[in-house]
Amino acid sequence: MAAGVSGPLEPYRPTWAEIDLDRLAANLAAIRRRLGSVPLLAVVKANGYGHGAVEVARLLESERADMFGVALPEEGVELRRAGIRAPILLLGGFTPEQADLVLAHGLTPAVYRPDQVAALVAAAAQRGVTAAVHLKIDTGMGRLGVPAAEAGAFAQVLAEAAPRLTLEGCFSHFAVADDPADPFTDVQVEHFLAAVDAVSARGLQPRLLHLANSAAVIDRPPTWLTLARPGIILYGYRPSEAMQPLDVQPVLTFRSRIIYIKDVAPGTSLGYGRTFLAPRPARIASLALGYDDGLPRLLSNRGHVLVRGRRAPIVGRISMDLTTIDVTDVPGAALGDEAVVIGRSGDESLGAEALAAWAETITWDILCGIGPRVPRLYHRAGRTTVTSRFADALA
Ligand SMILES: Cc1ncc(COP(=O)(O)O)c(C=O)c1O
Repeated sequence: MAAGVSGPLEPYRPTWAEIDLDRLAANLAAIRRRLGSVPLLAVVKANGYGHGAVEVARLLESERADMFGVALPEEGVELRRAGIRAPILLLGGFTPEQADLVLAHGLTPAVYRPDQVAALVAAAAQRGVTAAVHLKIDTGMGRLGVPAAEAGAFAQVLAEAAPRLTLEGCFSHFAVADDPADPFTDVQVEHFLAAVDAVSARGLQPRLLHLANSAAVIDRPPTWLTLARPGIILYGYRPSEAMQPLDVQPVLTFRSRIIYIKDVAPGTSLGYGRTFLAPRPARIASLALGYDDGLPRLLSNRGHVLVRGRRAPIVGRISMDLTTIDVTDVPGAALGDEAVVIGRSGDESLGAEALAAWAETITWDILCGIGPRVPRLYHRAGRTTVTSRFADALA
């Protein structure tokens, strides 16, 4: 077998992610079944959790997702430029300097600072438009948002900004919804509802009230209110092992190939720091990926990939572009063999959760860490397309 990749990936180094858009559509349908008539904002920030924000949002829009959520105005602009027309909520807000950019692209920002309101009012007046905003309320996450107890006073600022500004929604984010036993989520809900009452008392009537991340979609129907905001379950992962799985499947697989293979004598060292010394005569293969591509360096001498349906341990330090694995116990392992980092090989499978556990992190971090050098191959209804940061350079 050649050490490269055939088909649309031919121009690229043999490391790629495959995204099954049919599965994504099926996951959306499963979430919809769970939510019934409650509308859904699909969270596609961080490049669609590493899956490719544009392709993910296009698919979800064609499947009638009601709204999209991104963190940054830049991410929203990227989606607009790709033709996404559904409402896009900027979950992380914006800087006052970005106010005009936000309006120019019809994005809906979260607000939580008076200077954001002032900047939006000025930009909206200049354009002769009304800006719709969502008030971000901090009910216990403690990162961003107007403290719940101050929501009424902030609502006064918003009320005074009419008619240039209209309050379309109020939202907050859960800190521990992935632990069904933790009572803090109920405390957050209480604070949120009290804050919304205080906002209403200022004469504002936000249409969209939203709290529910994936964990709450699975576990806490009372928190769905008038909009739910699933992220990780769209991509096929449950938020924690404590949660019942919804009927969703991982959308992404991550693969590379053996680009060099050799037999080494006992005592041979591998990689930076010489952290691995072959304990026996060993067959060592080098894979065309490293930490820049999203294989966490913490997996050095920890965890495995799958080759020919067998586990091949990662040995030595993962470097920026290369990783060494021990294929001594993989009969027939050869140059060009596929190495599955996330996905299935024969009877074995590896999920992003396993990588997350080895790397002492979470599934989200693994998925959105898949780097921009990695081409993405999309499958939809029997058709395959590829995107790559290098597409223009190679054209
Ligand atoms: C404000 C907000 N809402 C919803 C989500 C989606 O969370 P999850 O991926 O756990 O569903 C996120 C993700 O971090 C978020 O920041």
